[in-house]
Amino acid sequence: MSLVFRHAIVVGASSGIGAEIARQLAAGGASVALLGRRADELEQVAAGIVRTGRGRAIVAAHDVTAYDTVPALLERLVRELGGLDLLVYAAGTMFVPGEGEYDFTRERAGIEVNLLGAVAWTIPVAAMFEARRAGTIVGISSIAGERGRRTFPGYSTSKAGLSTWLEALRNRVARHGVNVVTAKPGFVDTPMTAHLEQKPMVISATQAARLILAAARRGGSPSVFVPGRWWLVAMVLRHLPSTVFRRLNI
Ligand SMILES: NC(=O)c1ccc[n+]([C@@H]2O[C@H](COP(=O)([O-])OP(=O)(O)OC[C@H]3O[C@@H](n4cnc5c(N)ncnc54)[C@H](OP(=O)(O)O)[C@@H]3O)[C@@H](O)[C@H]2O)c1
Repeated sequence: MSLVFRHAIVVGASSGIGAEIARQLAAGGASVALLGRRADELEQVAAGIVRTGRGRAIVAAHDVTAYDTVPALLERLVRELGGLDLLVYAAGTMFVPGEGEYDFTRERAGIEVNLLGAVAWTIPVAAMFEARRAGTIVGISSIAGERGRRTFPGYSTSKAGLSTWLEALRNRVARHGVNVVTAKPGFVDTPMTAHLEQKPMVISATQAARLILAAARRGGSPSVFVPGRWWLVAMVLRHLPSTVFRRLNI
């Protein structure tokens, strides 16, 4: 099977992986709605798409923590796009607390963007797709969600929650012909990871977007590591005893 995406919403399209996914969807001829808080960056991504002469881009400034605004915004975007067959939830933020730093406000902010925003967007879209018995939802989780990590506890918690949420959603809608894809990247070269000194097995946002869209087009509701070789790392991480894992500085 190879699904063709004609109308897509990308939440978190102002930079990094989401922006690349939007560009590649448009290059394939899709009409894409670009969402994020930074209107200027969204306009730049949209202008780049217009310059290529392929596909179409519309822009909507949106903060994913404004949960109550999602249903009306979704309805408007579906109308403006002329339909919807793909939602990509790429919005994310990473708080790395310093040694000895405990900050509820910042941890909550991360969990709201990475997990609750995804729940707020995927609920109405899943309902719409289930009724139509078609559609694809992609959520960008992370290998960081495989274990509770000392370096970014809230981030790893939010990604574990997102992976579980997407699995639960897929278990509800797969029988109605709806495709739910969990993408779990390792290190990707984006503004989010710009501050990191060590990025083993890093790939570009372009490569990450290509692999994520390829998994989405295959259908069958896969959960994939991006790139696939992170599967081995995840398996090792998952099987490390807690007493060993807590000594690692990851
Ligand atoms: N880079 C990696 O190594 C890596 C690895 C695994 C998973 N991921 C995941 O991949 C996804 C994309 O991240 P990236 O690496 O491409 O980083 P990025 O360039 O920083 O992109 C993050 C995106 O999230 C959006 N966003 C953040 N807070 C938001 C909010 N409150 N409302 C709406 N949008 C918001 C940002 O838009 P605005 O700032 O304009 O709002 C931006 O478009 C994230 O979920 C991240 O956790 C990244």
